[in-house]
Amino acid sequence: MRVFSGIQPTGETHIGNYLGAIKQWVKLQEKHECIFCIVDLHSLTVPYPVGELQKRIKEKTIAYIAAGVDPKKSIIFVQSQVKEHTELTWLLSTVTPLGDLQRMTQYKEKAEKYKKNINAGLLNYPILMAADILLYQTDIVPVGKDQAQHVELTREIARRFNKKFGETFKIPKALLPKAGAKIMSLVKPNKKMSKTDNPQSYIGLFDAPEAIKRKIMAAQTDSEKEIKYDISQKPGISNLLTIYSLFSDISVKKIEKQFKDKGYQFFKEKLAQLLIEKLEPFRRKKKELELRSGYLEKILTEGRKRAQIIAQETMKKVKQKMGL
Ligand code: AMP
Ligand code: TRP
Repeated sequence: MRVFSGIQPTGETHIGNYLGAIKQWVKLQEKHECIFCIVDLHSLTVPYPVGELQKRIKEKTIAYIAAGVDPKKSIIFVQSQVKEHTELTWLLSTVTPLGDLQRMTQYKEKAEKYKKNINAGLLNYPILMAADILLYQTDIVPVGKDQAQHVELTREIARRFNKKFGETFKIPKALLPKAGAKIMSLVKPNKKMSKTDNPQSYIGLFDAPEAIKRKIMAAQTDSEKEIKYDISQKPGISNLLTIYSLFSDISVKKIEKQFKDKGYQFFKEKLAQLLIEKLEPFRRKKKELELRSGYLEKILTEGRKRAQIIAQETMKKVKQKMGL
């Protein structure tokens, strides 16, 4: 089975990215052929500081490896370095109905947020994502819940293409984690944790211990005392319970029992401690990697070469099927 996923080189990597996506990647690489991409072309669809982009790509490469992606087992590469992604995007755009793109939740949200810059790239974003996935004849796409709709559209595009031009693409499947597919903001627990929000709302994968403690202690909870999982009535504490459970591998039920009558403050202190401890190896690995630019470049070059071989093979087939 082949696995493909990616993250945009924007903002800091946070525990939502980790629990929703990267944690699954690390497991999958033990048994499957995995390809993990830094999707820089996707990140051009919203305003960004041009001079910062290369630094952000390097940061994301470090984040993948520090969080456990093993470059010996998985391919890690930068999207814009394999030109077949843009080429296939155009070809797929000719079989994608405009209406399908216009009804995508992420498009609607971003069009609202960036009212003054609704560029065509923002609308076509899911076609580029479909190209990423289909180029590699992917079976499994491990992502958080917000990306499930895009994977569903990818399946639809692949089916339509296969029907029109003959069997060409494998139909991929999204893989969402059972818990953690949507980690919520610490400040507004009804909204997903997002790297483009205020840093107070997320725990960065490399946050210093003091920052972790400060953010968790300030996390929004309700005015009751009971530590109980109840998404609709107690979204804040439920989110913290999910985070605790996923970093400790203890079930939410057991944690509820363990902290019965202990109060929110005590629970938050313990959660902060847990996160500080569990994220420590990531921080250490990051520091190490920051000094090894040559090594990182080698990984990306090697990754690009391996990705290209697969991508070119698919492109050849696609062009032939389309009569090009
Ligand atoms: P992004 O940061 O939007 O590039 O997302 C990278 C990956 O992290 C995707 O697979 C997302 O679905 C996942 N992800 C982003 N935010 C969250 C979140 N709050 N909870 C769970 N998964 C997330
Ligand atoms: N759109 C995804 C996100 O914002 C990132 C992404 C781009 C991706 N191409 C992909 C994820 C292919 C999985 C597979 O999170």
